[in-house]
Amino acid sequence: MIIFDKYHLFNLQIKPKMKESIAELNSQHVGKAPVDVIKWFIDKYKGKIALSTSMGAEDQVLTDMLVKIDRQTRIFTLDTGRMFYETYDLIEKTCVRYKINIEIFFPKPEEVESMVNKKGINLFYQSIENRKECCKVRKLEPLKRAFEGLDVWICGLRRSQSETRSNNQLVEWDEANGLIKLNPLIDWNEDQVWNYIKQNNVPYNVLHDKGFPSIGCQPCTRAILPGEDIRAGRWWWENPETKECGLHNRKK
Ligand code: ADX
Ligand code: SF4
Repeated sequence: MIIFDKYHLFNLQIKPKMKESIAELNSQHVGKAPVDVIKWFIDKYKGKIALSTSMGAEDQVLTDMLVKIDRQTRIFTLDTGRMFYETYDLIEKTCVRYKINIEIFFPKPEEVESMVNKKGINLFYQSIENRKECCKVRKLEPLKRAFEGLDVWICGLRRSQSETRSNNQLVEWDEANGLIKLNPLIDWNEDQVWNYIKQNNVPYNVLHDKGFPSIGCQPCTRAILPGEDIRAGRWWWENPETKECGLHNRKK
């Protein structure tokens, strides 16, 4: 006999209902100002909603909006152990500026140790398979832990960031993680992001002023040349269609 505890019953009964209401939520909120969308979701999913921040420009905009609405809402980042020191500086600066605590999730040390001892410290340059394994160990596993107790995951995705994101929606059902994914800036362009940052004096990563529009881990991110695609510096040795780490638009 299968005995379901409260958590599993919740997953079985309530979560499918959430999944069905995605289209409804989308049509209800498409076209609204991001701040109003965030406010509505925070009111409805209080305590079960969080922003995941990579400390990129979009996430800094969302942090500013979120803190002004409700400073209790969780904000977390995945520290892969391979970030730029400028990103660590920004974590500190942002916490001080907004008087908040950004939760930090690390990968499991034993998984990182086993991987790098088997495949090398810079395994990601050797194959796409190795690169995806590194992202899985350093990002996806900690992300699962960060999601505990959450119904809604707020992200900084924008459609115009890349061809892999051109079909993303404002509200999505994240099948891999069983929760609602909210992309409040999905329709924004780069100018809107930077206008918001300037108008609200939002702290941002100094690397953005040095040719890095999109910032991930240090070994997998480089500056771009004028006219290049904004994600051209991420995993620059790969083709555009493989340039996702598995956090978003995961191919089953
Ligand atoms: S990535 O998948 O290519 O790394 P990108 O840097 O464009 O993603 O960020 C897109 C969104 O994914 C961010 O707005 C943020 O919500 C989430 N994200 C990416 N990296 C992290 C991270 N290290 N920690 C927390 N959230 C992240
Ligand atoms: Fe590893 Fe690079 Fe993925 Fe970071 S972006 S987790 S260093 S493969």
